[in-house]
Amino acid sequence: EVALRPGGGARPMPAVGMGTASLQPVPGATRDAVLAAIELGYRHFDTAAMYGTEGPLGEAVAEAVRRGLLRSREEVFVTSKLWCTQSHPDLVLPSLRETLRSLQMEYLDLSLIHWPVALKPGVPTFPSRKEDAVPFDLEGVWRAMEECHRLGLARAIGVSNFTTKHLGRVLAAATVPPAVNQVELNPAWQQRTLRAYCADKGIHVAAYSPLGGQNWDGTGSNAVLGSEVLAGIAKARGKSVAQVALRWIYEQGVTSIVKSYNKERLRQNLDIFDWELTDDDRLKISQIPQKKIVRAEALFSQEGEFTSVDPADLEIV
Ligand code: A2P
Repeated sequence: EVALRPGGGARPMPAVGMGTASLQPVPGATRDAVLAAIELGYRHFDTAAMYGTEGPLGEAVAEAVRRGLLRSREEVFVTSKLWCTQSHPDLVLPSLRETLRSLQMEYLDLSLIHWPVALKPGVPTFPSRKEDAVPFDLEGVWRAMEECHRLGLARAIGVSNFTTKHLGRVLAAATVPPAVNQVELNPAWQQRTLRAYCADKGIHVAAYSPLGGQNWDGTGSNAVLGSEVLAGIAKARGKSVAQVALRWIYEQGVTSIVKSYNKERLRQNLDIFDWELTDDDRLKISQIPQKKIVRAEALFSQEGEFTSVDPADLEIV
């Protein structure tokens, strides 16, 4: 499989990673799906302290090594993320150690700050009251991330859901610049401004919700899988809509973190490397109306309750 190379000394990152965030986690489902994915050739897995899937992902990797599907843990690229309740300088290292304990691993290939938001320290949870949001010491948290990197516990460090403004602050303070920014990105939310900025600064971009996500906005519609433009291209190329979306992302030099726990769809999502979109396909995709799905209102209220981020950063541009 094709690998993309993030900065910061990180080892190459397979261009398609399997996501493990789920709205309705089913016991055992993650472990089984990851094992199936490893059998199909996936070598890149994405989790987070918040998802509750570090344990089952770690079990699956250990089991794959026992079964001889992998020679060792070294063969997989594993990303996890620091939740907002631990986004405090003194909690970063203990939280990473906890993540590694859950994963039964000695190191992460990539450790990310999950959101540019700090919540009151405590059990990882979503905020329920205004008082849950506390000032985010971005520079202090980044220094603690750098310490994790220096200790070898995180081979690379990066961020997620960061705007160009947040990235500017990290870059101004960093000794080790962020290797990756993982953001919502797909043909219906192409993030052109952010991508241009990241390219200029040598920050690799990874896409979450590459297929439009798991109904995160609760509308039941999906701007990617339901796109008529993508459906037309898929028909002409003899591919699925999902494959067209993933191929487009790959051609942009962006890594996809795609979630499927279904074997056939897992197989399909990895099968995007031996064909290309045409210039006309790319032109049509560039004209798809843009719509951000993950508005994370629990974290960033439009009324400005959680003021760690400028609400204007969530406006559609
Ligand atoms: P499932 O796990 O049943 O396959 P995203 O990666 O953008 O968050 O999107 C994931 C959603 O899209 C999941 O609900 C997943 O469901 C579904 N999905 C994943 N791959 C495909 C595919 N190839 N075709 C259709 N739906 C897919």
